[in-house]
Amino acid sequence: MTNNAPPAPSLRFPGILHGGDYNPEQWPEAIWDEDVRLMNEASVNVATLPVFGWVSVQPAEDTWTFDWLDTVIDKLWAGGVSVCLATATASQPAWLDQKYPDVLTVSQGGVRRKHGNRHSFCPNSPNFRRLSVGLARKLAERYGTHPALQVWHVGNEYGGTCYCDLCAEAFRVWLQNRYGTLDELNARWTMTFWGHTLTDWAQVETPTQNGEGSVQAMRIDYDRFQSESLLNCFKAEAAALREVTPGVPITTNLMGTFKTLDYHKWAKELDLVSWDSYPGKDAPPADMAFQHSLMRGLKEGMPFMLMEQTPSQQNWQAHNALKRPGVMRLWSYQAMAHGADAVMYFQWRRSRGATEKYHGAVVEHVGTSRPRVFQEVAQLGRELESLGKKTLGGRVAARAAVLFDWENWWGIEYSSGPSVDLKYVPQCQAHFRALHDLGIPTDVVSPDADLSGYDLVVAPVLYMVKPGIAEKLEAFVQNGGTFVTTFFSGLVDENDRVYLGGYPGPLRKMLGIWSEEIDALTHAQSNTVEFGTPFGPLTGSYGCRLLCDRIHPEGAEVLATYGSDFYAGEPAVTVNSFGEGRAYYLATALDPDALTGLYTKLCADKGIESPLPGLPEGVEVMPRVSPHGETLLYVLNHAVAPATVALPEGDQDDLLTGQTLTGSLTLDAHGVAILAPSLQDAPRD
Ligand code: GLA
Ligand code: ZN
Repeated sequence: MTNNAPPAPSLRFPGILHGGDYNPEQWPEAIWDEDVRLMNEASVNVATLPVFGWVSVQPAEDTWTFDWLDTVIDKLWAGGVSVCLATATASQPAWLDQKYPDVLTVSQGGVRRKHGNRHSFCPNSPNFRRLSVGLARKLAERYGTHPALQVWHVGNEYGGTCYCDLCAEAFRVWLQNRYGTLDELNARWTMTFWGHTLTDWAQVETPTQNGEGSVQAMRIDYDRFQSESLLNCFKAEAAALREVTPGVPITTNLMGTFKTLDYHKWAKELDLVSWDSYPGKDAPPADMAFQHSLMRGLKEGMPFMLMEQTPSQQNWQAHNALKRPGVMRLWSYQAMAHGADAVMYFQWRRSRGATEKYHGAVVEHVGTSRPRVFQEVAQLGRELESLGKKTLGGRVAARAAVLFDWENWWGIEYSSGPSVDLKYVPQCQAHFRALHDLGIPTDVVSPDADLSGYDLVVAPVLYMVKPGIAEKLEAFVQNGGTFVTTFFSGLVDENDRVYLGGYPGPLRKMLGIWSEEIDALTHAQSNTVEFGTPFGPLTGSYGCRLLCDRIHPEGAEVLATYGSDFYAGEPAVTVNSFGEGRAYYLATALDPDALTGLYTKLCADKGIESPLPGLPEGVEVMPRVSPHGETLLYVLNHAVAPATVALPEGDQDDLLTGQTLTGSLTLDAHGVAILAPSLQDAPRD
């Protein structure tokens, strides 16, 4: 993917961005001076503001109060801190909701919400659109030429679904544009089932709880429509910003596997991707890597911004553990290893009251630089400062990719049957984790992405096969690629209509199998897959669960069979030679050890290697190729004990310590190294 990738937009700051979400409107001016001083102490060079400051700059429709923001931005810039300028439209003022109640969303239960919280605007409200775009334009006009301005931060964490009458009306128009006639709509939604045929466009409603819930195709279309409606809000603000400040890159903070927004569509409208990483307690490093890789894949590997992470703890989980010493640093470098050129936090200073007063912050309530958390942020800041430009702009060079598709996700999880336990993200993560833990750099990309740079493509549960995708995958395999897919794949088209004539529909020829029927297992049940003949390291019996397809080879070779039940002895894992390549079908959810064995073999067959083979458990490695062609190896020890790693031939410079290493590297618990082939004292920048 490295070759055809678009260039990264130029941020004005020439190093790694280090900073965070700053809410000065909550504090008196004396604190602003202290903030700048503390930011300098922490080597913070960017502040994101005023994310929730709408009412503070526009206390009434025709009243603008920018003076305080002028002062803050000037103070920041005088202290060498640049600005990620938020358009402040994520939390609309009380006066606005009072004056224009149609701005407030209606829940799926049909209840219009009252003012409060945030992210509570209807994406199809013309009043919201007009006022939010008006605010964005004002900010652009006022600060567009300010030297502190680095990047635009539109809205904040777009999300939420609205079911109001404005949305219903806009949905009808959206459907008319998409399908043209009611007959076509009825056909696409399979409305003859249960006698649902619509005879008038006005009969189309939003899928509220007390309304239509049984037409999966409608639910999927409503998700498409709502994702697009929110995107239209972003696009409208972005258009105003581009008009006034054409050179300033625009982003909005995304949220990884956030279900309701199709980020592949969103990414096309962003100049660069930024995202907020809040892994749950005990999240495996591989799952965090999966999220980073998904975000990196949104724009063909372009470097992204880690817009938010907590420096210490969250407040919205049941039990908000502190990040242990060294963990924030480790996870920051993990983000960089996977493509981040910015390391930022939510939040700069803990607020005095309200919901997030116990959310981690760089500056705790004590207000000084003494706490551990501040010191860890400051240490990281100094390190990032000393790295300068060395890590900027690097691309991950991956030969393996996992496909991920939001519409497929919706389709799988709206499906009534075969199993309520079938969830899309964990299936994708299981395959990614197997590759990741073998040290194989892996991208996560859309089925629409250019696959030509990959040797191994994995499409876990590719349930919905949209037009053109089967042909594209066939071409990939025909040209020598290795393709892996699983049970519950190739079933439906983009309107959730089953491909008739036998599963897995359009993938059947390439996979060389017919899937006759699908058995669903409970939590307590499992089966086994038996590799009678060894396949790479796979030999004997492995556990499997969730779903078991009963399949028949149609040219494919059987690699493993089921161990029990009435389908014992029938194929469970197959491979089909197709053109120059091979297509694998996993008819059931294999346990992790079987996936590890499988990918060990498939990677060996394709000559895909880890940059550091034989890594100890808990150690992660990622290569990033810098714009001038140098490969930086990020080596990250997620374990709580030191780890020793064998290094490639030749001397290696550790960019963090300046030491030259030969033969092996010992990392402390949570330790990090960024290695590059030694330049023997030649300058690196
Ligand atoms: C999100 C928001 C922030 C803050 C954090 C708390 O990421 O963007 O404003 O609420 O969550 O974790
Ligand atoms: Zn609405």
